[in-house]
Amino acid sequence: EKGNYRHFMQKEIFEQPTVVAQTLRSYIRQVDNVVALPQIDFDLSQIRRVTIVACGTSYYAGMVAKYWFETFARVPVDIDFASEFRYREPVLEDGGLALFISQSGETADTLAALRYCKQAGQTIAVVVNVPTSSMAREADLLLPTHAGPEIGVASTKAFTCQLAVLAALAAHLAARKGRLDRAEEQDIVRHLLEAPAALNAALDHNDDIAAMAHLIAPARDVLYLGRGPDYPLALEGALKLKEISYIHAEGYASGEMKHGPIALIDEAVPVIVLAPSGPLFEKTVSNMQEVRARGGKIVLISDEEGLAEAGEGCLATIQMPKVHPLIAPLVYAVPVQLLAYHVAIAKGTDVDQPRNLAKSVTVE
Ligand code: F6R
Repeated sequence: EKGNYRHFMQKEIFEQPTVVAQTLRSYIRQVDNVVALPQIDFDLSQIRRVTIVACGTSYYAGMVAKYWFETFARVPVDIDFASEFRYREPVLEDGGLALFISQSGETADTLAALRYCKQAGQTIAVVVNVPTSSMAREADLLLPTHAGPEIGVASTKAFTCQLAVLAALAAHLAARKGRLDRAEEQDIVRHLLEAPAALNAALDHNDDIAAMAHLIAPARDVLYLGRGPDYPLALEGALKLKEISYIHAEGYASGEMKHGPIALIDEAVPVIVLAPSGPLFEKTVSNMQEVRARGGKIVLISDEEGLAEAGEGCLATIQMPKVHPLIAPLVYAVPVQLLAYHVAIAKGTDVDQPRNLAKSVTVE
């Protein structure tokens, strides 16, 4: 079933343009390019607060979504790991939407958190990849991702499909709340529809990334930095690398580095910077200078404009297409997945079945 691919993870990374397009298609009404959700019997415009609960990579998709819900819909968003949420006696008010994100739909902590929220009278929305799963069955609003079966233990295509659904949901919520007029909603949809081609363009850099994997493979620690909606991508990049190559990695918000982790920086710690050009770029450039001043080696992942400005003196650079900021988190997922993949290949670890990990965590 792997076809021409060596690993399921690799196959699933390369499937992303197709499955993201497939997922988007099911949320966008073709006649007028607005978001259409499955039929529901409650009024989304009444939602006053969103509580997002998930684990692992699905949690990072939720972190990106928080940014979108707040920016577009101006709805306050609370987000927590399922294993923390359940035990902290969260305050859940009437009119709340509880949003669960899961590839498998069976993660024990997430499922228990869903049941907790249901008891507390929240409306339950679920972004899930397995349509027959427990979470899918228990949802008031079922929002499927159409990634197809994900076999590799490290989640890849499920993540970008989750992002596609969450962006559509954010646009829809914003429209329902009167925060976006029709033309603005159509504009967002148009940018979302650019994602599959941009994912393809990102995948074109596979060979460059494979060629630089040997620069990262010997490291004991790797730092990933990002800002705004790209900060969760830094966390995701670090998680992917740890999971399949067993290199210790941490993701940090770029601006937080000087509050501690900068103490770790030396020639032996590669720093992967995720930074599309745009209003936040200058800030990141100064964070890169802080790294350089301490002998740190930078791998800059940016677009042509960003690399022209700050690519010089980096250990390596990875060029992404120039994309609308909305879809940058989907596009920048690709190089962090590929980097983890090729570093694992260079180290000879088991990519599809990493030690100590299970595909679906059904124990608490
Ligand atoms: C990371 C990974 C895990 C899962 C987590 C949640 O590559 O696969 O962190 O994301 O176990 O699983 P789901 O999404 O099935 O609830």
